[in-house]
Amino acid sequence: MKATAIAPANIAFIKYWGKKDKALRLPRNDSISMNLSNATTTTTVDFSQDYVKDEIYYGNQKMDDGETGRVIDHLERVRRLAKKRLFARVITKNSFPKGTGIASSASGFAALTLAAAAASGLKLSAKQLSILARLGSGSACRSMSPGFVEWKAADSSNNSYAYSLYSEKYWNLRDIIIVVSEEKKSITSSAGHENAGSSIFFQARLENLPQRINKLKEALKTKDIKTFGNLAEEEAIELHAVMMTQKPPLFYWSSKTLEIIKYVHIWRKEGLPVYFTLDAGPNVHLICEEKQEKKVLQKIKNSGYKNMIINNPAAGAKIINKHLF
Ligand code: PMV
Repeated sequence: MKATAIAPANIAFIKYWGKKDKALRLPRNDSISMNLSNATTTTTVDFSQDYVKDEIYYGNQKMDDGETGRVIDHLERVRRLAKKRLFARVITKNSFPKGTGIASSASGFAALTLAAAAASGLKLSAKQLSILARLGSGSACRSMSPGFVEWKAADSSNNSYAYSLYSEKYWNLRDIIIVVSEEKKSITSSAGHENAGSSIFFQARLENLPQRINKLKEALKTKDIKTFGNLAEEEAIELHAVMMTQKPPLFYWSSKTLEIIKYVHIWRKEGLPVYFTLDAGPNVHLICEEKQEKKVLQKIKNSGYKNMIINNPAAGAKIINKHLF
């Protein structure tokens, strides 16, 4: 009863922030994202009588009980659905550093969901898998489907799942993540969601979002990079304005975050169509079309930044045959 899955992280162009149901991880707003080809998690799950409790490893390092609660809760969900009582060994590894605002919980829970469901013999639809992943970590539901993905907020667990708007082949965008910090962030996004409503800007954000979502979907449909990029920037700034004004405030930016944002504006003035977005962390995601990639990389290098992860749009979570143990 062993299975292995690989799942991408995703970058949201319209971001999920705030929950209407904490336990069910039902978001306050719809969100739209793209899967990232070079920010992935691979996870092997083995359910067996050999284990007397769940054992969770990151690479070859056993994780202590404080870190594994959410993973074990998720295994429990799968066991309940599969009506099985076996404990599991889970080994997981990321292609990128954990806790840097590159959504390790998204790729992590997407890979865990698919591997655990397969290892326990569950036969679930894409919709059921997305719902199950959402219960582990909200944004993980978007990493289950290919390419460009939308997650509907909805009022019930059964209706809040993500689906593909376009496959990974639809638009050859790049997300070049400039990694400015590999430090683990002190406040997780899970904790941050809970205080979103305390920002005086939160309600205004919710009211304006449907309009922005429609415009972004239209720009995606017409592959209009200028409109798309401007909307993605506007959204990232607004999300961080909410974060910074919630109580207690969340400052994910570092001075380098702001430096890169200013560079992007200069590069655009010089005629290069490149835009930024941000996740729950200081790293900056530069969005451009494939044809601009070389120029953007050169600009980044000239400005002194070297640590980058270059992503294409990617497929969703999938089962692979090569196990980690
Ligand atoms: O799924 P979580 O709890 O890691 O929340 C993700 C929140 C953001 O990354 C800030 C935005 C998003 O939609 O990915």
